[in-house]
Amino acid sequence: MAFPGTGKIWMNGSLVDWADANIHIASHTIHYGSGVFEGARCYDTVKGPACFRLDAHMRRLFDSARIYRMDVPYDQQTLTDAVVEVIQANAFRACYIRPLIYRGYDSLGVHGNTCPVDVAIIVWEWPSYYSKESVEEGIDVKISTWARNAPNTTPAMAKSVANYANAQLIKMEADADGYTEAIALDTYGNLSEGSGQNIFVVRDGVINTPPIGNSVLAGITRDCVITLARDLGFDVREQTLPRETLYLADEVFFVGTAVEVTPIRSVDRIAVGRGRRGPITEAVQQRFFQIVRGDAPDTHGWLQYLGVPAATASGTSGR
Ligand SMILES: Cc1ncc(COP(=O)(O)O)c(C=O)c1O
Repeated sequence: MAFPGTGKIWMNGSLVDWADANIHIASHTIHYGSGVFEGARCYDTVKGPACFRLDAHMRRLFDSARIYRMDVPYDQQTLTDAVVEVIQANAFRACYIRPLIYRGYDSLGVHGNTCPVDVAIIVWEWPSYYSKESVEEGIDVKISTWARNAPNTTPAMAKSVANYANAQLIKMEADADGYTEAIALDTYGNLSEGSGQNIFVVRDGVINTPPIGNSVLAGITRDCVITLARDLGFDVREQTLPRETLYLADEVFFVGTAVEVTPIRSVDRIAVGRGRRGPITEAVQQRFFQIVRGDAPDTHGWLQYLGVPAATASGTSGR
């Protein structure tokens, strides 16, 4: 979906018009992938717009910057406040939030230490990643021929723009081969994650997910799903999973800020369970949506309300 190209973007402390939010072609990040970013969401809940786990996203942003030795010229609270400011400046009730810290324009050389560390926050209305049908019925995926980044190469725990070169290869191959998405293995052949999603595999009522040592991003939705599934009484285990667990699973689902909770109905054209969303996926998905929409008590304190009154009409969910 193309951007409308209007509204405001926060850049280095100022709100600028979308059309003017440009950087120089000789900026370091363009040439060397020296940027780290986040993807969070603001939902239009029954009590008004609220950012979901913004504190966790901003913390991970600063963690990513630290791994890449970037001295961020703002503290975490300032950038958190800036997220709220830019959402309000655009008068969005629900949106996707993309903070980005990157090495800017000065000179070109791999290190980049002479380049400024610049910050931008972009927000836009991005209702859903997959179709409504996919969210209810599940998507068809394949195992990618591309592996995830090996340990001790480009770090999986940093959400760096450089990691998304690997993600693009995974996503493009899936698309070219007629699948909605692909699952990547780590370099040892164990399950890792999708191009931009963590994965859960259910068998005999136990919910499993690869640990962060299997080259996965420590996803914030992954953390929510582990917590909510345990709240619902399920046994959730973080353990290394061989590829074939996918073919033997009763249920498989992706999670992430963009995809939220999306069932997988087939892997490599082999049906997962009965080839549609399973009951555990549905229970976790329902709980997740109830929380983000404010339909269930926010017992974990995950919603940060923006101080805008709730819309009076029903059906104004941000999804
Ligand atoms: C590679 C990758 N894994 C997992 C996720 C899910 O993470 P989160 O739930 O924090 O959005 C994302 C999305 O940011 C991602 O890009």
